[in-house]
Amino acid sequence: MRDRLAPPSHRPPVLPPNDPRQYDDLAGEWWRPDGAFAMLHWLAEARAALVPPARRPGALLVDLGCGAGLLAPHLAGKGYRHVGVDLTRSALEQAATHGVTAVNADVTAVPLADGCADVVAAGEVLEHVPEWRRAVAEACRLLRPGGLLVLDTLNATVLSRLVAVRIGERLPAVPRGIHDPRLFVDDRELVRECARHDVALRVRGIRPQVAGVAAWLLRRSVPALAPITSRVGRRPRMVPTRSTAVLYQGRGVRRG
Ligand SMILES: C[S@@+](CC[C@H](N)C(=O)[O-])C[C@H]1O[C@@H](n2cnc3c(N)ncnc32)[C@H](O)[C@@H]1O
Repeated sequence: MRDRLAPPSHRPPVLPPNDPRQYDDLAGEWWRPDGAFAMLHWLAEARAALVPPARRPGALLVDLGCGAGLLAPHLAGKGYRHVGVDLTRSALEQAATHGVTAVNADVTAVPLADGCADVVAAGEVLEHVPEWRRAVAEACRLLRPGGLLVLDTLNATVLSRLVAVRIGERLPAVPRGIHDPRLFVDDRELVRECARHDVALRVRGIRPQVAGVAAWLLRRSVPALAPITSRVGRRPRMVPTRSTAVLYQGRGVRRG
């Protein structure tokens, strides 16, 4: 009985860590701003802020591991055609309803032409891919010379395992069991791998604003306080932080 009443993010995982079938089980959560994928909404806003308006008509943004297309509303008005690549059909169906052209494929073998993309986004996906180097090679292959790569992922550190998995997955903004920390991506190795593929990636640490998260948690637990807590902001914002040890963003241009 207790389990049935618990919100989805608090249920014990029944599938192995990082099993892609978890995204089907959580399909109803994607677009709930206070649901199990809440933090992905905060991250999508921060990722989109790295994307400038399109420089030419018909510019293409390829969103690797696009999920349900949470990036789409934050790109509105920037002038891109938004193509999303993902393994999970239930997520892609939702992405399509938000204007994303859906491609059901693995990010390590994307059925799109070399140099087709003005921007490639890879948000919160590399840490889910056992062969992340192949995904990076694909991201760089898709970029036209001068094209922009933007990404965010979790670092392969002890601190990241503690903060993102042991603590983060106990918060209502991250599904429990969604990560396999053995797949987390060392930032220096990622920079080197991008350089091998002609993309000069620069990384910076990010984290959710503490006051925003506290207000968000309070608003979820005590809805009557919403008029006060919403003064801190509609949703927690991601802010830069000096250390890349847990969560980090990368931005780099392909040599052209
Ligand atoms: C944590 S979600 C991030 C979704 C989206 N980028 C966002 O930030 O809202 C990870 C997504 O990557 C997808 N994914 C994981 N491994 C993948 C792979 N090898 N190829 C394609 N998609 C993959 C999952 O299906 C899921 O939709």
